[in-house]
Amino acid sequence: MKKVIVLGATGTIGLNTLSVIEHLGSDWQADLITAFSRKTELEQLARQYNARTFTTDSETMLKEIRESDADIVVNGIAGAAGLLPSFETVRCGKRLALANKETIVMAGALLKTEAARSGAEIIPVDSEHAALFELQRTAAPNQIRKLIITASGGAFRDTPLEELTHVTPEQALHHPTWKMGPKITVDSATMANKGLEVIEAVYLFDRRPDEIEVLIHPQSRIHALIQTAEGTFTAQISAPDMRIPIQNALTYPEKAAAPSPDTDLTAEALTFTRPDPRKYPMLPLAFRAAKSGLSAAITYNAANEIAVAAFLGHRLPFLSIARLTEAVLNKPLPPAPASLEEVLTVDACARTAADQLLASKAF
Ligand SMILES: NC(=O)c1ccc[n+]([C@@H]2O[C@H](COP(=O)([O-])OP(=O)(O)OC[C@H]3O[C@@H](n4cnc5c(N)ncnc54)[C@H](OP(=O)(O)O)[C@@H]3O)[C@@H](O)[C@H]2O)c1
Repeated sequence: MKKVIVLGATGTIGLNTLSVIEHLGSDWQADLITAFSRKTELEQLARQYNARTFTTDSETMLKEIRESDADIVVNGIAGAAGLLPSFETVRCGKRLALANKETIVMAGALLKTEAARSGAEIIPVDSEHAALFELQRTAAPNQIRKLIITASGGAFRDTPLEELTHVTPEQALHHPTWKMGPKITVDSATMANKGLEVIEAVYLFDRRPDEIEVLIHPQSRIHALIQTAEGTFTAQISAPDMRIPIQNALTYPEKAAAPSPDTDLTAEALTFTRPDPRKYPMLPLAFRAAKSGLSAAITYNAANEIAVAAFLGHRLPFLSIARLTEAVLNKPLPPAPASLEEVLTVDACARTAADQLLASKAF
């Protein structure tokens, strides 16, 4: 019996994980499931999947992870709140099936050091990184020239730049291909999501930022490609359905029967374009942060989280998400943190700076 802890069970990743566990059959059990605000939904899920729940203050969450005999933890928590549970999982030597990209953006190197010490596996669930994880097993690391991740282009892919001034949160939450939580859906519209994924790829796969490329691929069928030294591209193609990377992370290195219907390759032409940096300024800002180092990466993530919350609360226009993030990145940055405590300090400083700029409107 494989036991799984599902952190963020009421969210998109969490619900997909529960559905995959059910699909995998009686050898799999959702042992423990958590949520944050949606307590009634959590209790309902616990009854449906015969799982245990607990109140999600962070101390209890870490203790429950530590004391559980589960084999795998799926981290589907949204935002920086996912960081400490990821560390606790890896410290205990359990497999971390990681959707929470903020963990890697904020502390990827520290997490990998901890995993090397405990023997824990870190398996990416983010569809692009799950694809890169698989693709990189087909070539020697020094033979891989480039990692390419694709982006849908988000809710405003076909909206001209001039019309972005007055777009609303309700419009931004209309994603063309993926069904996801509100924060990541807004991040798709600004491409901050892809920016975070660039930084995630840098730390997860030990690559330089200039070895990573982003292409807009509106059909969301090809999730990532690698290019090897002699110029060949290898792509991973599947339906845009998170149950596939979630299941692969649970069953790794084995494969199980598909959890979702096949994609029809004849349904539409697969196309690629380069993102326009004027329309998606969060993307070049992410490359700048990735080149600059860990403090900039943490700051990019924290400032964006504050900006997106303000946008969703109708307190910040859409185009100012990037302006606020850039203004925080333009402030003097602390030296790269060397411990989890220092990571949290850099994160807190960036949030304070973003809050102050937001309040003063001085950006
Ligand atoms: N959705 C996708 O397709 C997708 C794809 C790739 C990667 N990801 C990544 O996966 C993570 C989750 O995304 P999502 O779309 O599933 O988000 P979501 O639908 O908003 O769900 C977030 C989950 O986290 C819980 N949560 C929120 N704040 C928390 C806190 N402070 N402490 C503990 N739990 C908290 C929520 O609980 P309540 O519901 O009770 O508030 C909910 O269960 C993000 O890092 C995202 O970037 C998502």
